[in-house]
Parts: sequence; structure tokens; C-alpha cells
Amino acid sequence: MIDLQIKVGDVKLRNPLILASGLLGSSYSSLNRAYENGFGAVTTKSIGVESRDGYPNPSIIYLEEIKSILNAVGVANPGYKVFTQELKEMNKDVQYVVSLFGSNPDEFVQMIEHIDEHIIVHSPSAYELNLSCPHAKKVGMAVGTDPEIINSIISCVKKSTRIPIWVKLTPNITNIISVAEAAISAGADALVAINTLKALMIDIYVKKPILSNIRGGLSGRSIKPIGIRTIFDLFEKYGLEIPLIGVGGVSKWQDVIEYFLAGANAVQIGSALNDYSSPKELTSKIIFVLENYLSDENVKIGELRGIAHE
Ligand SMILES: Cc1cc2nc3c(=O)[nH]c(=O)nc-3n(C[C@H](O)[C@H](O)[C@H](O)COP(=O)(O)O)c2cc1C
Repeated sequence: MIDLQIKVGDVKLRNPLILASGLLGSSYSSLNRAYENGFGAVTTKSIGVESRDGYPNPSIIYLEEIKSILNAVGVANPGYKVFTQELKEMNKDVQYVVSLFGSNPDEFVQMIEHIDEHIIVHSPSAYELNLSCPHAKKVGMAVGTDPEIINSIISCVKKSTRIPIWVKLTPNITNIISVAEAAISAGADALVAINTLKALMIDIYVKKPILSNIRGGLSGRSIKPIGIRTIFDLFEKYGLEIPLIGVGGVSKWQDVIEYFLAGANAVQIGSALNDYSSPKELTSKIIFVLENYLSDENVKIGELRGIAHE
């Protein structure tokens, strides 16, 4: 039996596959089920201070030929107070990460203090700050491209909780190191990269943008080389200084290895859920072949981290 356990800082996971935020993560039952179906940890949908309906349809387009998704869901969520009730129902063995978005340090602190106060028995494994959503006004990427704002959000949040803070970065920026630097110097416990890429599609018959929000975020297989390049850049700069979670286009076991070789400690998977008949099929197929690869190569998964840089 091959050991697939990994550590993201102090957070130990049974395997390196984490359910990405925004897919299957809007209720305790879907999160519990995703974990039962084999993920090493599961991430909630991003939650904010107030409830939001999100953008009208069409808000999600599946692009079969490139196994990718263009979405502008618009961080639809019930608000943190209602969502805290969901978290109380999480199964005790489930490792879960709470994703949060906000527009300033006070909003993040307010949400985290509330959750910490109400979820005492089975706390989240980490908070993931979504500083990277490309299609929501005044939050996400709007705050996540400014190193000063990032620094002040993370500094304040770190003072308010003992739970690890993971920071999800946007690829929609020229120099990702500038925001990574701000996050690390303020005390981030891990970096998560990448969120979706700002994108747009036009219907050639209607002759108008397809998404109701006009612009959206691209995810899935088409963005994998950008995710890999981003993790490679971050590892090249920081080495083992900070844990890195690779996201973007992971759909097969080879992708997991590629992210580790670039410098990741773990990966998140979102859009690829569409490529499999069930989450269980996705995790079991990836884990089965991953185990065979590690056994044939006689290495532990963690030993692959960053090897492409040697
Ligand atoms: C429909 C949809 C909704 C998403 N919602 C969120 C979200 O609420 N918060 C967030 O941080 N990322 C969100 N994402 C981005 C994913 O977590 C992930 O970063 C991105 O899709 C790249 O990974 P993938 O190629 O495996 O899908 C969403 C993605 C999709 C497709």
C-alpha cells in the first residue's frame, strides 16, 4: 500500500487531491460526500459577508472541445452567518477548507472570528482567502492585485485566528511574485495558484458576448500550462519556504505529478469533475495510477516536489 499522505505546512492530508472552491462546495452534504468519494480535503464555495444571488444565466459555458469552462457565477453564496450553520453539520472525519472573499481586512476578520467562535469542535483545516476571482466587483481579483491591500488583509487575519491561512492568487497579473511576496511577508501559511483566467466568448449568430456578465473566468485543461508555469515561478523564487497548492487543469494522474515536479505540495481539482461520471471515479482513477507510478519509481509523492528545478 503506497502512502499518499502529504503536508501543507502543518496540515496533514490523506492524499494530495483537494476539491477546488466553487464546485460541489455549497452545502455540507455535498462537501461530506466529496470527501467520502476520496478527496484528501474539500474546499467550500467562496463565502462573503452578505448573501449574493450571482449573475443571471448564462453564467457557465462548458467547452467540450478543450475540456474547459468559462464561468461568471459571480460568487453566489448565502453569506457567512447562514453558511456557518452548514459547517456545523460537517462530518467529524472530513478535512475541509473554508474559502472566503471580501473587500477589506475588516470583512475577512469579521467572517473568520464568527466561524472560529461558532465552530469549535471540528474547525476548518484552513481558511483560503479568495483574492483572485476575476469577475466580481470590489472583491477577489479587485483586491488581489494590490500588494498593499493583500498585506493588510493577511496581517489582520493572521492576528485574529490560529487556523492556517491559505491565499489564492490570481494569474491575471503581470508579476505574480509581487503579490506572493506581500502574502508571504504578512504571514500566509500557503499559496494557492491559480484561480480562473479572465476570458470572453462571443456568439457569432447573436453577435454578442455569451455570458450575461460579458467577461468570465476560464478553467479546465486549457489553463494547465499557465498553472504549471505559475507554480514553477513561485517555487523558483521561494523554494521550500512556503507550501504551494497547484490548481488549474488537473484532470489526470500525470497532471498531479507535473504540478509536484514544478513545486507543488498538493493540487486542487475543479473543472475535471465534468470529465468523469462521478467524483469517486475521478479520485479513484487518479489515485490508483498515481500509486502504481510511485511504486514503479520507488519514490514518495513528497519527494517529487520541485524536482524539475534541479
Ligand atoms: C463554476 C466555477 C465556480 C468557481 N467558484 C469559485 C469560488 O467560489 N471561489 C474560488 O476561489 N474559485 C472558484 N472557482 C475557481 C476554481 O476553484 C479553480 O481555481 C479554477 O477553476 C481552476 O481549476 P480547474 O481548472 O481544476 O477548474 C470556480 C470555478 C468554476 C469552474
